[in-house]
Amino acid sequence: DYVRKLQDLNSLEQFLCERLDIGRVVIIPGDSDQEEVVKREIGRAAARILGNLLNDGKEHIVAVSGGTTMAALAANVSGNEPKTVVVPARGGLGDNVELQANTIATVLAQRLGASYRQLYVPDSVSEEILNSILAEDIGVKSVVDIIKQADILVHGVGQASVMARHRRLPPEFIKKLLDDGAVGEAFGQYCALDGRQIYMTNNAGLMLQDLPKIGTVIGVAGGRSKAAAILSVIRASRQDILITDEAAAHDIVRML
Ligand code: G3H
Repeated sequence: DYVRKLQDLNSLEQFLCERLDIGRVVIIPGDSDQEEVVKREIGRAAARILGNLLNDGKEHIVAVSGGTTMAALAANVSGNEPKTVVVPARGGLGDNVELQANTIATVLAQRLGASYRQLYVPDSVSEEILNSILAEDIGVKSVVDIIKQADILVHGVGQASVMARHRRLPPEFIKKLLDDGAVGEAFGQYCALDGRQIYMTNNAGLMLQDLPKIGTVIGVAGGRSKAAAILSVIRASRQDILITDEAAAHDIVRML
């Protein structure tokens, strides 16, 4: 019955906190792969947690990634946080505008009564072009400086294969990435199940080495298909809060 199930999920949350060394794990009943409503509930839970973190009268800089789960978060958030600034964690993913980090940052800021800054850097540009964009002061560098000061990072997690195709990486490159063991992706970093970092897209914004300085890192991702991806990202970096679903949580436990 429902009460028993919630108790089971509670102990599963506790178990994952301890085993994965995460401060807080929230598990939504169900499987987002099967039911859209579960992703909405993940978004709602994440929105509540973020809202509580922001509601302390202090100034915050929130960096966000893109994706449908982050869009579910943004749609559910509300507040009055004029001192908060929302920024994308990294540059764009040349696809669907609604799902890009810049857009998520804008929607989130509007719903929070916060301000936002946009980062206009396309994904996977060459080192050379990236450096010249940063050297020209066309507003990119000042935004990057703000992003580097983020004290909260909220990000989705994708399957490495799905995200690599999404980014239209060359097929030979994708094959190499997967052969090297990449299973998960978060804000441009591709990770193996044991937490090895396999590849990081060349972009401006947050890098892996910036994570220790960020006060609170929040991962939002569910669905059985993402279990390995979520575990790889947790092992590769730091996670303070994980909001996931029952199907992903059970599969993660099986992989430990
Ligand atoms: O970086 C991860 C992806 O943006 C996750 O996207 O929430 O639409 O699966 P998704």
